Amino acid sequence: MTQGPLTTEAGAPVADNQNSETAGVGGPVLLQDQLLLEKLAHFNRERIPERVVHARGAGAYGTFTVTGDVTPYTRAAFLSAVGKETEVFLRFSTVAGNLGAADAVRDPRGFALKFYTEEGNYDLVGNNTPVFFIRDAIKFPDFIHTQKRDPYTGSTEPDNVWDFWSLSPESTHQVTWLFGDRGIPASYRHMDGFGSHTYQWNNAEGEAFWVKYHFKTDQGIRNLTAEEADVLAGKDPDSHQRDLREAIERGEFPSWTVGVQIMPAADAATYRFNPFDLTKVWPHADYPVIEFGKLELNRNPRNVFAEVEQSIFSPAHFVPGIGPSPDKMLQGRLFAYGDAHRYRVGINADHLPVNRPHATEAHTHSRDGHLYDGRHGGEKNYEPNSFGGPYQTGRALWQPFDAVTGGTGTHPTPRHAEDDDFVQAGNLYRLMREDEKERLVANLSGALAGVSRDDIVERAVENFRRADDDFGKRLEAAVQALRG
Ligand code: HEM
Repeated sequence: MTQGPLTTEAGAPVADNQNSETAGVGGPVLLQDQLLLEKLAHFNRERIPERVVHARGAGAYGTFTVTGDVTPYTRAAFLSAVGKETEVFLRFSTVAGNLGAADAVRDPRGFALKFYTEEGNYDLVGNNTPVFFIRDAIKFPDFIHTQKRDPYTGSTEPDNVWDFWSLSPESTHQVTWLFGDRGIPASYRHMDGFGSHTYQWNNAEGEAFWVKYHFKTDQGIRNLTAEEADVLAGKDPDSHQRDLREAIERGEFPSWTVGVQIMPAADAATYRFNPFDLTKVWPHADYPVIEFGKLELNRNPRNVFAEVEQSIFSPAHFVPGIGPSPDKMLQGRLFAYGDAHRYRVGINADHLPVNRPHATEAHTHSRDGHLYDGRHGGEKNYEPNSFGGPYQTGRALWQPFDAVTGGTGTHPTPRHAEDDDFVQAGNLYRLMREDEKERLVANLSGALAGVSRDDIVERAVENFRRADDDFGKRLEAAVQALRG
């Protein structure tokens, strides 16, 4: 706790922090009461724009430890030796709710991980689901509009949600996942994480591989039923946040076993599913998950605003040996996050303690802007120059994508031999036990019962029927029973 006299922002001691200064006893307040003005003005500016999605979250620091040799696949320095440790910061979140929303809701969970590596920060901005609702970034703002409040009613509207999903059949897989048992995790500790997209790894020889990341919770998967979540969301809106902080305070450090699916670059063109389509998984029978790390969270942030609200994660933050894939969603995200950070936190967001590299230093020629701290002193701010200073390396972080052909155009994502919008949703349904199927149908029919238009409900049911006939029939009957 800070000791000594209270001061103004400029450091002058404060005599009275209880009574503002007035003209006489009971008279009006004086403009010369700078303490009052400063306090009111600062208070008005305490909020920054909340994240447009994933507004609500909790974070913790920890350690990533390499447990398996992946050097044949990537030259990333932080993955260069078994036993090597890297500091991390992980921010979990829900997606649709605003900053004050409840945690215990049916919604994907964000799993945003920052590795503070010696070659710069590597951010893996994933979710607790291996797939997503859409496969092209151009649909993201429309999708999120349907998850947020309606411009007229000011409330979230089942009509909008289901209108969009039913008109976007590629969402069927993710929606089946979301309304199943894993749709409402019991806490952030009891869920898996996924990089979701396909990324590139490349090794010292310049060979490229396509990879997908998996984080398996060591706490075991635990979920809430819809009924349990309804009660908890009302009783303790901060349930996930509190659970994470308290577990770490108790010394119960949550951990995840980290694995990767690896596809040789040459397989991509002929793989049965388009490996860059975010609505699809790679079945483990095709590409097994290879274990290579352990992630442990062991330190709470000291100041939630500074370290969680102002934390920034970007899928474009790569390090040598790791890069993007041509996944159209990922390509859109490479722009969206940096842009959001510049708007939400400011142009020097990367300089904040939680965001800056911890195991190396950034050396750029960018300067100035809001809240610039003068870190570069009098160094030259251009390159090439004749005065020394930072210079380009000549080696790209990732390998070029080969096999890019054809003319420009608004091309749909290419389909591979077994690609359609329903096959993997059907496979997921058929994997479920009977009691899981019952809860899935009950959750979906409960949500669809809130939709006002028959055509939207029918179109939604039809998508699930195309995934699996039994799924569709049972859902149709359950919806009819509820809607009459
Ligand atoms: C093209 C599609 C997408 C766009 C345009 C997009 C855009 C955004 C934006 C603008 C933010 C707020 C960033 C900030 O204010 O700091 C955000 C947050 C986030 N997004 Fe996405 N997103 C997309 C898809 C995805 C997907 C597919 C995933 C997961 C696989 C994902 C995971 C996250 C996470 C975890 C956060 C929170 C990061 C944090 O904790 O600060 N997003 N997204």
